[in-house]
Amino acid sequence: MASPAARVPRHVAIVMDGNGRWAKKRLRPRSFGHHAGQKAVREAVEFSLRNGIESLTLFAFSSENWNRPATEVGALMDLFLKALDKEVDELHGNGVRIRFVGDLDAFAPELRQRMLGAMERTAGNAALNMNVAVNYGGRWDIAQAARKAAEAVARGELAASQITEDTLASYTCLADQPPLDLFIRTGGEHRVSNFLLWQVAYAELYFTDTLWPDVDQACLAEALDDYARRERRYGRTGEQVANAS
Ligand code: FPP
Repeated sequence: MASPAARVPRHVAIVMDGNGRWAKKRLRPRSFGHHAGQKAVREAVEFSLRNGIESLTLFAFSSENWNRPATEVGALMDLFLKALDKEVDELHGNGVRIRFVGDLDAFAPELRQRMLGAMERTAGNAALNMNVAVNYGGRWDIAQAARKAAEAVARGELAASQITEDTLASYTCLADQPPLDLFIRTGGEHRVSNFLLWQVAYAELYFTDTLWPDVDQACLAEALDDYARRERRYGRTGEQVANAS
C-alpha cells in the first residue's frame, strides 16, 4: 500500500465547467456565472495550499472559447483583468506562483502585460504552482512542442533520431511541473475537451455533476478521497503494483 502522503495528488487539473448553467438556473446572464466561478477558484487555491498539492492547473479559457458571443468573451476578458488586479497581491502573499499557459499573443496588450507582470512578480514563490490555461488547447501544446523540437533540429542542437517522448515532453507547457495525477471536470460532462492532452495520459479522471460556482472545499475533498482509493497501475498488473509497494 502506498503511504497516505503518496495518495495526495501532486498535480491537479480542473475543467471548471458549469458557470453558464449555474447562471441560467438563476435567470441571470452567463457572465454572472463566470463571476461566481471566481469564488470557486479561490476555494480551489485555498484547498490546494491546505492539502499540500504542488500544482493546480485551471482551464480558464480554451482556444475554442473565442467562438462564444462577443459579449461573453468581453465579459470574461474584463473578469480576468479585474481578477489580476484584485487577487494577485493575496496570491503572492500566500506564496503562490502564477503562470499563464497558452498562446498569450491573442490577448489585448494590456491584459497580456498584466499576465506577464503577475508571472514575473510571483516567479520566486514555491507554496503552490497555479497554472491558468488561457487561449490554451492540448493540440496546440503538442504542436508548439513539436515546432520547438524541429527548430532545435534545424539549429543542429538535436538530431531527429533523438526525439523521444521525453524530449517532446520537455517542450510542452508544464514540462517543469510534477506529472498530472488528477484531472477533474465539474458540470456533469464526461469529456477532456482538448485540455492537457499530452499530460492526461496516466492521470486519474474524476467527474462531478456539481456546477463550478458551487464547488467548495468539501467537493474537492471528495475528489481527493476518490483519488486516494484508485490503484495506479501504469500498465502493470494489480499484483505487480501490490508487490512493489
Ligand atoms: C466554463 O463554463 C467556464 C469558462 C469558459 C470560464 C471559466 C472562468 C472562470 C471560472 C472565471 C474565473 C477564472 C479565473 C482564473 C479568474 P461554461 O460557461 O461552459 O458553463 P456551461 O457549460 O454551463 O455553459
